[in-house]
Amino acid sequence: CGITGYIGPREAYPIVINGLKRLEYRGYDSAGVMMFDGEKMHLSKTKGKVSDLEKITETEPFRKKGSIGIGHTRWATHGVPNDINSHPHFSASGDLVIVHNGIIENYDTLKKELISRGYTFKSDTDTEVLVNLIEEVKKKEGCKLGKAVQLALTQVIGAYAIAVFDKTKTNEIVVARLGSPIAIGVGKDNGEFFVASDASPFIEFTKDAIYLEDEEMAIIKLHKGIKVRKIKDDSLVDANIQELQLSLEQIEKGGYEHFMLKEIHEQPKAIIDTYRGRMLPDEGIIRMAGVDNNMERFLNADRIIIVACGTSWHAGLVGEYLLEDMTRIPVEVEYASEFRYRNPIITPKDVVIAISQSGETADTLAAIKLAKSKGAFVFGVCNVVGSSIARETHAGAYTHAGPEIGVASTKAFTTQITILSLISLKLAKAKGTLSNSAFHMYLQKMQLIPEKVQKLLEIDEKVKEIASIYKDAKNCLYLGRGFNFPVALEGALKLKEISYIHAEGYPAAEMKHGPIALIDENMPIFVIATNKGHYEKVVSNIQEIKSRAGKIIAVVTEGDVTVKEIADHVIEIPDTEEALTPLLTTIPFQLLSYHIAVMLDKNVDQPRNLAKSVTVE
Ligand code: G6P
Repeated sequence: CGITGYIGPREAYPIVINGLKRLEYRGYDSAGVMMFDGEKMHLSKTKGKVSDLEKITETEPFRKKGSIGIGHTRWATHGVPNDINSHPHFSASGDLVIVHNGIIENYDTLKKELISRGYTFKSDTDTEVLVNLIEEVKKKEGCKLGKAVQLALTQVIGAYAIAVFDKTKTNEIVVARLGSPIAIGVGKDNGEFFVASDASPFIEFTKDAIYLEDEEMAIIKLHKGIKVRKIKDDSLVDANIQELQLSLEQIEKGGYEHFMLKEIHEQPKAIIDTYRGRMLPDEGIIRMAGVDNNMERFLNADRIIIVACGTSWHAGLVGEYLLEDMTRIPVEVEYASEFRYRNPIITPKDVVIAISQSGETADTLAAIKLAKSKGAFVFGVCNVVGSSIARETHAGAYTHAGPEIGVASTKAFTTQITILSLISLKLAKAKGTLSNSAFHMYLQKMQLIPEKVQKLLEIDEKVKEIASIYKDAKNCLYLGRGFNFPVALEGALKLKEISYIHAEGYPAAEMKHGPIALIDENMPIFVIATNKGHYEKVVSNIQEIKSRAGKIIAVVTEGDVTVKEIADHVIEIPDTEEALTPLLTTIPFQLLSYHIAVMLDKNVDQPRNLAKSVTVE
């Protein structure tokens, strides 16, 4: 979910609504706003997108009256997406109003207690329980809103980012976080404040921001400033104001029809930005402070455990192939959600690499905390600067891909692989598991990748043509081996996510053990058959498909002859080292999914049921 808020001299509605649009990547089942016009609170909320909310508020006077507001865009956890369950939620007296991101796990117990005290509830949400709990505490203790929020939160188990407003105390907004992010934009001379799940809603207004840490809350008082406190013991914390590096241009579509297409096309630059200043081919070195400063931990590691979710997990799998091949350190790749709950064996000699675009994924964050508690060294690979995972890890490397807004991850994936390649090469050099000449060769080849990606992007028309042939398929299979097995998984995920076509990724040889039963003349099968990647074996797999009448779309290396003769379509990628091919083979699959989704008239940037940043477990 995304939350946003404003308090200051400007009209609040446009700020809140535009903020919600920028946060819509975090969830878009329903949306709502509360606007305070100086006397009354006005609530408007609906199932659907922020654009639906805009429609229902079209004639509302509060659009032009009122300089305090909070808003929410939801990704449903408790209660189906409908108007009533949408946020904001009022307390029983109607004095307090809240927006919330996260899950209150003990909401049921709290709710029963509140019911026994006479409270009634309109919605099925855990959020309405929280706002009433705050109200109850406020009444019982006879305290102000800030204190009531603090005391109420000490009773809460779960995760939250909240913003609360009290109509009897109209110069303040109270916010708090545990597990879900909160950024506060600070206006000049404390004359206005912005609240949001990330800084994007307020970058055109201020570059000064405070990011709350877990278990912190802030009382934001107009003209007086911000007091940050620890929720547990109420102690004051020094609020650290950071200067935002984000620009408005970065979070706009820049002439592209969709964010996803823009982000696909940004990959050459994103990869350069990722290795810039780190990879120095002329000097023959890779500089990465997070690795350099902890080289002993890496070199003495018994094993490396990579934890991640979704696309980042796929990048982790490529990382496993890279790290084991180059450094000979054993690597395991784990779904963060499985790892954290299966009582894993972790020792202080383990190095854990956590990969996350957003840096906020709840399961990945929890996996890190678990690994840290067992003494492991934890290294983060995140895209969002200052995110929770970036802060929670001992060291790390940012991908510097720039904001990724399309829900289907593209440039985050290729830049994560870039970082993992750099780490693998760097460690291999330090360990002596890669010869000097091979190291230099990789650096040279890596430097050529961005222009090869650029060249690949020019095959767009061809991919579009293939998309138009297979757009109505009901099932698709993606096959690859070695470094390109994870690319097959990622290719299938991209198609599923935005076109809702069922697709499976498989190691090419495993096809025989199941998926082959599905193959008939209606089944498109995407096969990665690069020239150095067990080529002959993949060719045999392609023959097996052919003899069962499956349609073959093969991704091959430029100049390929054999596969061209068998496959129904081929897409050529420029030649490079096999270990670097995932950076290329993944591009046609991204474009293919994009075009199919557009042709099927699906919402490319905001596919149904998904969210970009999953801050609940
Ligand atoms: C969500 C997104 C995916 C992403 C995954 C992990 O499911 O829709 O695109 O790969 O979360 O997110 P992270 O931010 O940790 O990489």
